[in-house]
Amino acid sequence: MGFKGFVIRSYEESQLSDKAQVMDLERRCEIGQSKRVFLFTDTLGDPICRIRNSPMYKMLVAERDKEVVGVIQGSIKAVFFTAHKPPPGLVVKVGYILGLRVAPPYRRRGIGSGLVRRLEDWFLSNDVDYCCMATEKDNHASLNLFINNLRYIKFRTGRILVNPVRNHPYNMNSSEINIQELKIEEAEAIYKKHMASTEFFPKDIKNILKNKLSLGTWVANFKQPPRLSSSTTVGGNGQTTASSWAIVSLWNSGEVFKLRLGKAPFPWLIYTKSLKLMDKIFPCFKVVLVPNFFKPFGFYFVYGLHHEGPFSERLVGALCKYVHNMALNNSKDNCKAIVTEIGGDEDDGLKMEIPHWKLLSCYEDFWCIKSLKSKRHNNISNDNDNDNDHSHHILEWTNASPNRTLFVDPREV
Ligand SMILES: CC(C)(COP(=O)(O)OP(=O)(O)OC[C@H]1O[C@@H](n2cnc3c(N)ncnc32)[C@H](O)[C@@H]1OP(=O)(O)O)[C@@H](O)C(=O)NCCC(=O)NCCS
Repeated sequence: MGFKGFVIRSYEESQLSDKAQVMDLERRCEIGQSKRVFLFTDTLGDPICRIRNSPMYKMLVAERDKEVVGVIQGSIKAVFFTAHKPPPGLVVKVGYILGLRVAPPYRRRGIGSGLVRRLEDWFLSNDVDYCCMATEKDNHASLNLFINNLRYIKFRTGRILVNPVRNHPYNMNSSEINIQELKIEEAEAIYKKHMASTEFFPKDIKNILKNKLSLGTWVANFKQPPRLSSSTTVGGNGQTTASSWAIVSLWNSGEVFKLRLGKAPFPWLIYTKSLKLMDKIFPCFKVVLVPNFFKPFGFYFVYGLHHEGPFSERLVGALCKYVHNMALNNSKDNCKAIVTEIGGDEDDGLKMEIPHWKLLSCYEDFWCIKSLKSKRHNNISNDNDNDNDHSHHILEWTNASPNRTLFVDPREV
């Protein structure tokens, strides 16, 4: 496909020049206008690595005179469409867009939108019902492109919480909380029973759990009720803390790609330098140090986070500390941060329990969605009934409570 002097074509993995040029483009692209710290991704010589674990994936490049000036990645998977009832458990195909980059000198020439449209065509040819993407609230270029230009709808807000791996383990209160690792089959059964109504819950959850990047699944419950006032051991609906539990799984994203701090605001630099100095002068204080994020580092991604019952947010907090301590002990993974994404505004209590650094985290990750039915309708036929049905679905999806839990697939991080 050619337009305005650019050609859009598939990324050729076997071509060394494609690989080198895409990696160079990634290095040159800052994402958004964040006033917070800015992280670059280092794909370890494999630019397509972020989607390689998805059931179906594609990478496109925009080229001008043999120079790669834009890139986009997409993956396809089947998820449960839970906003739609009945029938329960309806499965839809979702295309996920990520890694859109256009070289700075070539921006505002229609390359970004051209790449998205071309990826949507690939989705359509594979019977995808909806496509979605996520971007930070302050990435105006991206939001304008998807919402104003390409008619995506913002439908959820996620919160990405980042916790640096400290130089000291968290103290785990093992007399109060019990943490147990689950087998893959046990984890699958629990997720299917309790999370199947979660938005974007993947049909192939088992494939995620048994992927070599999945480090395990843990559940936590209270051995004893939390030591608060006696009345607080019973929840609003009469449940006791004995029924409370939480579950998380862990994904070794650092095995696929690394992150590196591109730039950091001045207060961050001052803060980290003073911590180092304090540690040097008063080693007995066991000052908590921040890792050197300017060198490429790995991270663990917490997925499949779910909790039920009174005070179960505390159980999630305990699980996050537990996986932090695991990261500290597994030095071979070079894991320097634990990343968790939670959804919605209701999660304030949960956010407080999950250890994270505000400066590294993003509290407003906008999820946008588009039904491809209208595009298919234009392309192929005038199947009005189905078209109405899809508009109805997307309305249900966008009108459903923003507090619904979102399953963030670790294969698309
Ligand atoms: C976002 C990005 C891919 C846009 O690429 P692009 O080739 O410039 O996009 P297009 O030329 O197709 O722009 C289409 C529309 O998007 C909107 N848009 C694009 N860049 C914009 C900007 N900097 N500010 C405001 N709106 C912008 C405009 O509505 C534009 O239409 P117009 O030029 O007719 O006004 C590019 O800026 C980029 O690579 N940014 C860094 C990486 C990034 O943030 N990626 C998105 C992650 S999801």
